[in-house]
Amino acid sequence: MSQHLLLPLVILVIGPDPGTFQDSAFSPSQEEPEDLDCGRPEPSARIMGGSDAQPGTWPWQVSLHHWGGHVCGGSLIAPSWVLSAAHCFVSNGTLEPASEWSVLLGVHSQDEPQDGAHVREVAAILVPDNYTRVELGSDVALLRLASPARLGPTVRPVCLPRASHRFTHGTSCWATGAGDVLEADPLPRPWVLQEVELRLLGEAACQCLYSRPGPFNLTFQLLPGMLCAGYPEGRKDTCQGDSGGPLVCEEGGRWFQAGITSFGFGCGRRNRPGVFTAVAPHEAWIRTQVMGSVPGPVFPTQPLELQSGPREPMEENCTVALPECGKAPRPGAWPWEAQVMVPGSKPCHGALVSESWVLAPASCFLDRISSDGPPRDLNAWRVLLPSRPRAERVARLVPHENASWDDASDLALLQLRVPVNLSAALRPVCLPYLEHYFLPGSRCRLARWGRGEPASGPSALLEAELLSGWWCHCLYGHQGETVPPQGGGGGGPLLGERREAGRCWNDSRWSLLCREEGTWFLAGIRDFSSGCLRPRAFSPLQTHGPWISHVTRGAYLEDQLVWDWGLEGGETEIQTCPPHTEHGACGLRQKAAQMEHLWPWLAEVHVAGDHVCTGILVAPGWVLAATHCVLRLGSTTVPYIEVYLGRAGANPLPQSHQVTSAPPLLCQTEGGSWVLMGMAIRGSRELFAAISPEEAWISQTVGEAHFLPPSGPPYWSPEGSNLCPLGMAGASGPPRAALLLLLLTPLIQG
Ligand code: ARG
Repeated sequence: MSQHLLLPLVILVIGPDPGTFQDSAFSPSQEEPEDLDCGRPEPSARIMGGSDAQPGTWPWQVSLHHWGGHVCGGSLIAPSWVLSAAHCFVSNGTLEPASEWSVLLGVHSQDEPQDGAHVREVAAILVPDNYTRVELGSDVALLRLASPARLGPTVRPVCLPRASHRFTHGTSCWATGAGDVLEADPLPRPWVLQEVELRLLGEAACQCLYSRPGPFNLTFQLLPGMLCAGYPEGRKDTCQGDSGGPLVCEEGGRWFQAGITSFGFGCGRRNRPGVFTAVAPHEAWIRTQVMGSVPGPVFPTQPLELQSGPREPMEENCTVALPECGKAPRPGAWPWEAQVMVPGSKPCHGALVSESWVLAPASCFLDRISSDGPPRDLNAWRVLLPSRPRAERVARLVPHENASWDDASDLALLQLRVPVNLSAALRPVCLPYLEHYFLPGSRCRLARWGRGEPASGPSALLEAELLSGWWCHCLYGHQGETVPPQGGGGGGPLLGERREAGRCWNDSRWSLLCREEGTWFLAGIRDFSSGCLRPRAFSPLQTHGPWISHVTRGAYLEDQLVWDWGLEGGETEIQTCPPHTEHGACGLRQKAAQMEHLWPWLAEVHVAGDHVCTGILVAPGWVLAATHCVLRLGSTTVPYIEVYLGRAGANPLPQSHQVTSAPPLLCQTEGGSWVLMGMAIRGSRELFAAISPEEAWISQTVGEAHFLPPSGPPYWSPEGSNLCPLGMAGASGPPRAALLLLLLTPLIQG
């Protein structure tokens, strides 16, 4: 969804050679004809972050249609001439035929007929010889109309600056257009012309902003003939479809066109102001092209007092903008924490995403959502926000259209009646753009989401670490499946893994907040792993960024802030799912293994120097063993235990030792992995207690234990299968395994 325009090409001047163009008296004088005024709208009166213009405010604005649809903007500079951007007309290095284009003049809304609005065919499109691609400059074009425009209150030309004209940096100017209102979000009907106030940025200031690391891997060089306008903090900008349109500044009661909308990186992003073609340096080129045409464009002299306006200091301070969202005084003190209070229901936890909007699970409100209009008691709904003395009232509830059947879209937006003032104690969480990739290993936290009992207990329980994408993909997919290369957006679930064991937040629901450079993003919602199992999985939120920004028109989407991929190489390649593990392959034996390594997960558990039982390595730091082997009946003291790894059965045991437990039951899956199915029950070599009922306990205690997904064959049934031969289970049901986990500390190597 990159917004930069890369139009590789070579340009030619098409249309009648201006030198031989003689439809009227050739006027060699560079003086402006007295009869044409410019840059003065009738006294009265896309663009991202702008607003509807008043009819007649920008009478030079035109809409350029290609095959009948709006593609670019332009400005009327003379009755027969429109100024626009070269890249609008050049595709694959060729200029599109003028006959495919038409110019709409005096149009305020493209949906309704308006007084004075009319259409003109294009006779010729002129582009500078040296134009190749937008980023290389000269992104300017002239359109000669087949017949002159009808000037009137809503159709008038703008003034053009002379080459010597200096627009003062920091001046507020206006950009207009009917382009997208957000990235990839077109201006909705009735397509009312948008206007936005932008500040001119000095060359140094602009280059400085662009040299900050950011979302688009940029080596962008602002060239002479370009100018920047916008704000370091973004949010107001031109966007796709505004190209060719004017950036105008008022001087001495007239509007001069300082720039032509040319390109940008995304729209309205932080530290990425819009780039415009500066008009003043193109005075000579414009004059040459229109020579002989009467009346021609007007280049009034700049008001004297402005000609000596302050120049940009050579070393302008580089004021970059920092994220405005996602700052928390400390983890857990979330300034965006919102509780939606609906009469007759438990509070529903959500997050503030802008001054006016709260995001929460739609499932909290599904019983109130009807197809015919808003919930009847919406008046009584309240939202509690941090540091606000009183609860906020709700103006609107906008559920996601798929909320009722797609769990990953379980989202609703609530609009507050009155926008709140942001402060350190009350600010929105950052939302990721579609292309955001949360790096494996990111520090994350679980935060309340939806209904459930209030959070309590050790906060370490809420810590999480993001697991790598392929690992995650494989855990929820199948062994041997290929995983697409990383960085391609956020399709799959995100996995957060709780760091510490402890109480299990069984019936509560969580969202996943992840931190990048101290800024918190809402990365995932709807913890969908059941109960206490880990790792927890979340639906990525970035796929919903476009919907959220479309509805709110102001949610704080923030660029990825951390790009350090750590491991190089393998991450970008297509990978095949291994047997599931984070630390390496689990359950796999090396093919050519020697006898003693046949069962690399077997451990010798030496208890109090007198007997040995079999343990199973279930994670790098944990061995599972039968309780009866380790603890003597009736004894309360834990004996001295040593665990030997990588040698089970290889070395003869000292004579004093006797083996007291039978080997565990392992089954091989279709994929070749060995799965621990049961542990021998005391005194038996054939009877096993199933491991699966202990899964929750094991997974809570051992972070990295790997359970094969319940869906894959031929794993156990969730209830725990009866592993006894038929008829042996007895009336009391299958035996439960009495298990013990040993946390290993390194003793001796070798
Ligand atoms: N090139 C775009 C167009 O063809 C204009 C993009 C302006 N982008 C921006 N971020 N200022 O309409």
